[in-house]
Amino acid sequence: MSGQQAGNVRFDFTGQTVLVTGGAQGIGRGIAALFHEAGAHVAVLDRDAAQLASSWSDAGDRVSTHAVDVSDAEAVAAVVDEVVRWSGSVDVAVNNAGITRDTVVWKMTPADWQAVLDVHLGGTFAVTRAVVPHMRGAGRGRVVNVTSYTGMHGNVGQANYAAAKGGIIAFTKTVAKEVARFGITVNAISPNAATAMVAAVPADKLAAMTASVPLGRFAEPEEMAAAVAFLASAEAGYITGVVLPVDGGIAM
Ligand SMILES: NC(=O)c1ccc[n+]([C@@H]2O[C@H](COP(=O)([O-])OP(=O)(O)OC[C@H]3O[C@@H](n4cnc5c(N)ncnc54)[C@H](O)[C@@H]3O)[C@@H](O)[C@H]2O)c1
Repeated sequence: MSGQQAGNVRFDFTGQTVLVTGGAQGIGRGIAALFHEAGAHVAVLDRDAAQLASSWSDAGDRVSTHAVDVSDAEAVAAVVDEVVRWSGSVDVAVNNAGITRDTVVWKMTPADWQAVLDVHLGGTFAVTRAVVPHMRGAGRGRVVNVTSYTGMHGNVGQANYAAAKGGIIAFTKTVAKEVARFGITVNAISPNAATAMVAAVPADKLAAMTASVPLGRFAEPEEMAAAVAFLASAEAGYITGVVLPVDGGIAM
């Protein structure tokens, strides 16, 4: 990890169950790994069964993996029930799964539009609606969503992604208001990390993107995890409905 302080952060989630979507690789894998290291039971959801298996096959009995498409609300509800039967609770949910189908709006097909909305916004909805009743029963809980700079400022070629990520911000604030009285907080991070999603960006555009980061680099996925763990911690109990940029200063 290149963030000099990040390795010194220590969280204790022993006895808690953390559900992470899109945890087969990238930021989601980094998030799930930190919670696992911090003692949690971790349920990793991803539609890529092969990558899920190769990333988590040796992880031991505090990890359960679930090959599921997060945009399928019924399948997600069944997985959440399975997770609660496995570990007894779901204390933290991290809505991280995502895709891109980039092109300018006049070339964007309805399928490109719908697929991106379904995964980001539909998946965040599907998981949140399924976990809230369990958290409400426990009188506490944490939902952490993953949005993007693009969801606040827009980006050429990403009308679908920007709409989905902007929607996640509105969803975060609304659900934060709805569930605050149950002891549940709902927040979001806005990341910037070197992952497969970023590797898909053309080299010249990527160089320009890197140059625009005040801290001068893309982060490692693991550096996103510390911010998520903070928002999921007991110490963050008075923080709800915020978007925390974890982006090297891009949002300034
Ligand atoms: N990497 C960045 O700099 C950056 C910046 C802003 C936002 N984000 C967001 O962070 C999140 C993680 O991105 P990443 O860079 O790690 O991408 P990634 O492509 O490396 O990982 C995304 C994961 O989500 C999974 N996934 C996709 N569709 C799914 C579905 N329908 N159901 C279940 N799983 C599904 C993929 O299989 C993959 O494992 C995304 O929401 C992305 O939009 C990333």
